[in-house]
Amino acid sequence: MGSGVPPLDDKSLLKSKAYVNGQWVDAKSGKTFEVHDPATHKLIGTMPEFDSADTEAAISAAAAALPSFRKTTGRERSRMLRKWYQLMMDNQEDLAKLITWENGKPMADARGEVAYAAGFFEWFSEEAPRLYGDTIPASVAGNRVFTVKEPVGVCGLITPWNFPAAMITRKIGPALAAGCTVVAKSPGETPFTAAALAELAERAGIPKGVVNIITALENTPQVGETICESDTVRKVSFTGSTRVGKLLMKQSSSTMKKLSFELGGNAPFIVFDDADLESAVAGAIACKFRSSGQTCVCANRIYVQKGIYEEFARAFTEKVKGFKVGYGYDEGITHGPLIHEAAIKKVESHVKDAESHGGKVLIGGQKLPDLGSNFFQPTVIRDMTSDMALAKEETFGPVAGLFPFDTEADVVKMANASEVGLAGYFFSKDLQRVYRVAEALEVGMIGVNTGLISDAGSPFGGVKHSGLGREGSKYGIDEYINIKTVTLGGIGPLQGS
Ligand code: SIN
Repeated sequence: MGSGVPPLDDKSLLKSKAYVNGQWVDAKSGKTFEVHDPATHKLIGTMPEFDSADTEAAISAAAAALPSFRKTTGRERSRMLRKWYQLMMDNQEDLAKLITWENGKPMADARGEVAYAAGFFEWFSEEAPRLYGDTIPASVAGNRVFTVKEPVGVCGLITPWNFPAAMITRKIGPALAAGCTVVAKSPGETPFTAAALAELAERAGIPKGVVNIITALENTPQVGETICESDTVRKVSFTGSTRVGKLLMKQSSSTMKKLSFELGGNAPFIVFDDADLESAVAGAIACKFRSSGQTCVCANRIYVQKGIYEEFARAFTEKVKGFKVGYGYDEGITHGPLIHEAAIKKVESHVKDAESHGGKVLIGGQKLPDLGSNFFQPTVIRDMTSDMALAKEETFGPVAGLFPFDTEADVVKMANASEVGLAGYFFSKDLQRVYRVAEALEVGMIGVNTGLISDAGSPFGGVKHSGLGREGSKYGIDEYINIKTVTLGGIGPLQGS
């Protein structure tokens, strides 16, 4: 395949150990797991297979680092995060190479991810010095009331493979800004990017024990359980499936910790008759096929009003024809492989199910064995109906299903007929409709006349079974703080009066 993996400019960013208490460590058992390039299946390297005892050691390191780190000023933490941000940007190309290697996304997307990921450190470096409390008018004469914002403590962060850098920085950024210390479990499929971030954390002068990056593949369930059941860990933040989120919530219940969950979506993408066709097509392409459909905010159900359906289907399919699927390092590649065989199977099953219920494939629909077993053709299917599997579950792959609809009321009903509610999108030039539909959709985030909504400054999160809490934005730091109320009593009149 092409010219192969380009060497890193800074080879010391390629690590094969976990990072605990400022040390690069193996699992105590000596066990490791292998990580393979999803495009070629070639071995990238191995990482320590942490178990429960290793995880406990990382939690203890984070707990030991907490007393002094929580006393640092917001300005000091701001400078550390800013430096870490700068180091990420200085090493953008190497980090992008690592992302492409272990995740498969094309280099252009990987570079974009590094900037997006670093943006969370930049954003929260700006929030760290601004953790204001309140002065509250007391209802009891002689009392004075104020609040202070305190770090929750040790945080357990569990992140997925689809954004090997951005999902981890989106959690570590606000945690550190608030004065917390962290144990971050990197994804089993993509641990090398996270390890490179740990190396940059050290260079940024983050004190030892403040950031601990742990690794596991097969032991992921026991590592997750150890984090959730630990009473030392006072907050868990998880990005991943709704099924696992519910399990972690249950495991966390006995220790009453703070939780935030960014879980699965099944995003509706609605194109009304009055939309600008060209920008609706461009928005749908960007939204559906970002990372080959492997993001939880990707359009999953594309609803197109009947008056514009034929034209939209033609123009959308035409754009998909222009995609170039291949190895992420090769020139001109627009879309890489899926992450693993299970992802391919799911995509295949959604295509087959749609066809068996009357859906017609306009383009794609097949695997690409000549490229490798994890490659699938970008696919467009028309005449979709709500009894199909794709309508009910997230595909997490490059399959765009086009559903025709009649009225605004019909489509809002169809869009909301889902137990999850992460992102939703619609295209319309009618101002009144924009308000009506934005208010009616049961989701946490809406893109109106755009297919891309992710930004460090915008609150990210869902409703219903898509999770709890918000990441990024001025709200993201709230997930990592406790508000303490201080009531001063017995303040009498001026003495001598
Ligand atoms: C995700 O897929 O979980 C995150 C997507 C994003 O940040 O845009």
